[in-house]
Amino acid sequence: MEVSPLNINRGPLLVFSGQSNIPLAQEICQHLGIPLGRSETVKFTNDNIIVQYEESLREGDVFIVQSFSTPVSDAIMELMLLIDAAKSASAGRVTAVIPYYSYARSDKKDAPRISIAGRLVADLLQEAGADRILTMTLHSSQVHGFFKVPVDHLSSDRILGEHFQRVVPHAHEGVVLAPDAGSIKRAAAIAHRLNSGLAFIDKQRTSDTTVDPRALIGDVQGKNVFIVDDEISTAGSLVEAVNFAKRMGAKDVYVAVTHGVYTGPAVERIRALDAVQVASTNTVLVPESKIEGSGGKMHVLSVAQLFADAIRNIHTGESVSTLFE
Ligand code: R5P
Repeated sequence: MEVSPLNINRGPLLVFSGQSNIPLAQEICQHLGIPLGRSETVKFTNDNIIVQYEESLREGDVFIVQSFSTPVSDAIMELMLLIDAAKSASAGRVTAVIPYYSYARSDKKDAPRISIAGRLVADLLQEAGADRILTMTLHSSQVHGFFKVPVDHLSSDRILGEHFQRVVPHAHEGVVLAPDAGSIKRAAAIAHRLNSGLAFIDKQRTSDTTVDPRALIGDVQGKNVFIVDDEISTAGSLVEAVNFAKRMGAKDVYVAVTHGVYTGPAVERIRALDAVQVASTNTVLVPESKIEGSGGKMHVLSVAQLFADAIRNIHTGESVSTLFE
């Protein structure tokens, strides 16, 4: 008898979603060929949240998709409630699928008496009952180590690299530019894929919304420049990086990041930016109004296929790292 590849060793594969990015969860389910599971989330007038599954999870291999995007605290609380309720409803295993783990930016004690939310949220998710975590492009990959349960950490490098190859002929003649030292490894991986040059900016963050670029290491003179980063939040880092690259003689500038968070002045800044386009993936839901507000400069790339492949491989017990090859 032929065994369905989606039912090896485990109960049925079930995918549910919190409220933060339902379109991504639906797209993942389309790739998996299963319907998105039914659940309801209600927020009471006193701000308390309640969740309820509307179908059986008994012995199921449950995946819950939730990005930590605005309102972040609600998103985290809702995910914890969904995990806890799944466990109470006798799910066999629960994997928290967190395409964007925003608190990865809070990963060290770099000032006196500050919180390290990246670790605290990891503790909370495990306490709620998460058996595994599936995420993408953590701000710093060591955040992975905050979890005691298995973490599959996906990379969007291939998606970003292929995007540059699609939109820019002869991309290999360009230069991938890391806007700060933290992005060098990612930029190097994409430069390797494109077979292009590599450069980076020596940047210092001066406040939550301002940065100070001090030097550009590498040669961008007369070349197309591909800026890559883990995320765009206020776009402060991006503006400085693009302007710096232009001052150093860059030809056209293209930008691609994993998480398009686009907070505060980001959309206005991108509209005015001296870059051909700014792409981000759909780990965070980007409203159509923001794309329009950017004068059509913002583009969205889908990570749904990659997440679907990872979920399928986790479910069937196959390697996830092979997806990066
Ligand atoms: C910084 O270390 C990160 O890699 C991003 O460059 C940063 O989080 C982006 O934030 P913003 O868009 O607010 O400058």
